Amino acid sequence: MGKPRVFVARVIPEEGLALIRETCDADIWPAELPPARQELLSRVRGVEGILSLLTDAIDAEVMDAAGPQLRVISNLAVGVDNIDLDEATRRKIPVGHTPGVLTETTADLAFALMLAAARRIVEGARYVQAGRWKTWGPMLLLGQDVAGAALGIIGFGRIGKAVARRARGFDMRILYYDPYCREDPAAQELGAQCVDLETLLRESDFITIHVPLTPQTRHMIDDRAFSLMKPTAVLVNTARGPIVDPEALYRALKDHRIFAAALDVTEPEPLPADSPLLTLDNLIVVPHIGSASVATRGKMARMAAENLLAGLRGERLPYCANPQVYEAGMPSA
Ligand code: DGY
Repeated sequence: MGKPRVFVARVIPEEGLALIRETCDADIWPAELPPARQELLSRVRGVEGILSLLTDAIDAEVMDAAGPQLRVISNLAVGVDNIDLDEATRRKIPVGHTPGVLTETTADLAFALMLAAARRIVEGARYVQAGRWKTWGPMLLLGQDVAGAALGIIGFGRIGKAVARRARGFDMRILYYDPYCREDPAAQELGAQCVDLETLLRESDFITIHVPLTPQTRHMIDDRAFSLMKPTAVLVNTARGPIVDPEALYRALKDHRIFAAALDVTEPEPLPADSPLLTLDNLIVVPHIGSASVATRGKMARMAAENLLAGLRGERLPYCANPQVYEAGMPSA
């Protein structure tokens, strides 16, 4: 029997790619940019497995283009909002993802962004680079204190809790809101208090987002949410761009209704170079690098490869985003 044919939608770290090359007939998309839609549809034709990235929309059209022999989709991300999960489940195709391994790395970035936005670090660096630093100034680049402030965590899953652990070291008062679980037993240990969203928005000095993108969380942070925040509030988003309404964000920052924001994720992604958001001094934007450490990306690649290979062998995926596919028996090997 020949090796199973798979499409890998980008060059990923060797920790994963080597495993795939060994056991599969792999078509690996070589470019820096993702395959255009037509290219994706043509490359997946006849494959048994797809290793996708969060930049690839994997929907019914792609699954149809692949054909009925498609038996696994493995996403190199913990989030699976780029995949039509219901459609994959309906077709009994297991979808793999990479939870856990990127938790600490993403929490590090969320905390770094929080500190950077609060203390105007990017603005300060630009000021120096532009040759504008003339003297120590008593009123120069005044920011907000992080130590002792109130932190509101929206989404108290793995990453939200990892941010809470860091916040304890800064003596922060920790509030959390989680749309899926009101009270979490881990909260007590972390000294975190469960509140409703409105209370969190009103009382927090820093607000950090860690929910997945769903129809319920899309534009969860809108004009009304900004109107509830303190004028000194700092918003950080390392989850998914569309959770924050970009036009409402622009208004809130431009009119100084909040102090600052820092985004690792945007809507759209990437932000066009002429986006009005990029004209604001009180906004930091980085290019979706939450999980981008050498070690973490290596672990994600390995995990994505293990999911892919398990699916090809007809085994249960070690990290499956739609375990319902196994409810009425395993997908056929
Ligand atoms: C994810 O995994 O969902 C991140 O956004 C990228 O690592």
